[in-house]
Amino acid sequence: MNPTDLDQLGARILQMADQLAAHSDQPDALTVAYLTPAHRAVAAGLQRWMREAGMQMHIDAVGNVVGRYAAADPTAPVLMTGSHFDTVRNGGKYDGRLGILLPIAVVSHLHARGERLPCHLEVVGFAEEEGLRFRSSFLASSALAGQFDAQLLDRADADGVPLRDAMRAAGLPATLESITALARDPQRLAGFIEVHIEQGPVLLERGLPLGVVTSIAGSLRMVATVTGVAGHAGTTPMAMRKDAAAAAAEMLLAIERRCSQAPTLVGTVGMLGVPNGATNVIPGRCEFSIDIRAGDDPTRDAAVSDVIAACEAIAAQRGVALELQRTMRVPCAPCAPALMDLLAQCVARAGVAPYRLPSGAGHDAMMIQRLTEVCMLFVRCGNGGISHNPLETMTAADAQLAAQVFLDFIRHVPGTPR
Ligand code: GLV
Ligand code: MN
Ligand code: MN
Repeated sequence: MNPTDLDQLGARILQMADQLAAHSDQPDALTVAYLTPAHRAVAAGLQRWMREAGMQMHIDAVGNVVGRYAAADPTAPVLMTGSHFDTVRNGGKYDGRLGILLPIAVVSHLHARGERLPCHLEVVGFAEEEGLRFRSSFLASSALAGQFDAQLLDRADADGVPLRDAMRAAGLPATLESITALARDPQRLAGFIEVHIEQGPVLLERGLPLGVVTSIAGSLRMVATVTGVAGHAGTTPMAMRKDAAAAAAEMLLAIERRCSQAPTLVGTVGMLGVPNGATNVIPGRCEFSIDIRAGDDPTRDAAVSDVIAACEAIAAQRGVALELQRTMRVPCAPCAPALMDLLAQCVARAGVAPYRLPSGAGHDAMMIQRLTEVCMLFVRCGNGGISHNPLETMTAADAQLAAQVFLDFIRHVPGTPR
């Protein structure tokens, strides 16, 4: 068995994902935050595989691992593909990584055959998408899209390490000039395709291995800080308290209620804490995150306005202070009809009914969509569709089909800039 044989690509992709999952910031969970030693070990693995697959590769100024499989015609445009290799805390091994490993496997097959493509194929392992360490979601793809937020360089992680210092420690230049120079020229691009595990149950329930994404839901994130009055848990009568955590709990339920009111709308409080809290002290401060998404921006923005009003009303009624800091607002990103149609044809040629579905999760493609036309191929997620969880799973057979569709797509994408 040769790992570059066409019928071995699915197995090879899963094998590489297993190998990458050996690197983690935590011993008993898969957690890979931006620029940690585990993150750098994953980048090294990707580099090695890209080289072995016949690509020229480099690490760019934000730590992206970029491999290029050159077309025969040096003036050909560049088709970009890729996804992220950082993870959430205690995440799954395919989220993001599938979209890097699958193109590497496919290129190794092309290289073994000596086959060149009509476009230069650039495979990007995006270094940061999840925002785990610096609340800097899409940092890596925003740099390529020419939309890097300069203020991020001063943002500190939970240990007080500024991003700029973390970059220097990882051997990156850590200058704004080097990062802004990463912006790609749209005139040179033929488009972008991202392969990603679905992270939901839709394909699984329909019995379909693959899906063509129509659009990516826009998300808005905030950090809420509620300030009450800390006091003695034994002596302060209930009516005399200004309990920050109790107020936050009421706000959380208001968010859940409002975000249950439209089909694609979702709202999540994923982090909730009482800093320096103690069992016998009434919480004087409570911090929580808010993530609100919808299939279209007006639905999402209406919910955000209502959530803010509801939280402010709860704060006023309970006599606590509320501060809301917006940390992210990404508009909904539609996929390009021509690329979607081509991808759907490739899916059909692989013998799968080309089913179209929106993405509720965020993806690097949303940022690249500001630069060039994008499309996405979803691959079925097992275990009831669970993701952002170590139970996330997929099969080698589905990865195999996805690799064949991807190969068909990159052979046929028009070699003209869009
Ligand atoms: C990315 O994983 C997201 O939060 O959608
Ligand atoms: Mn994710
Ligand atoms: Mn992802």
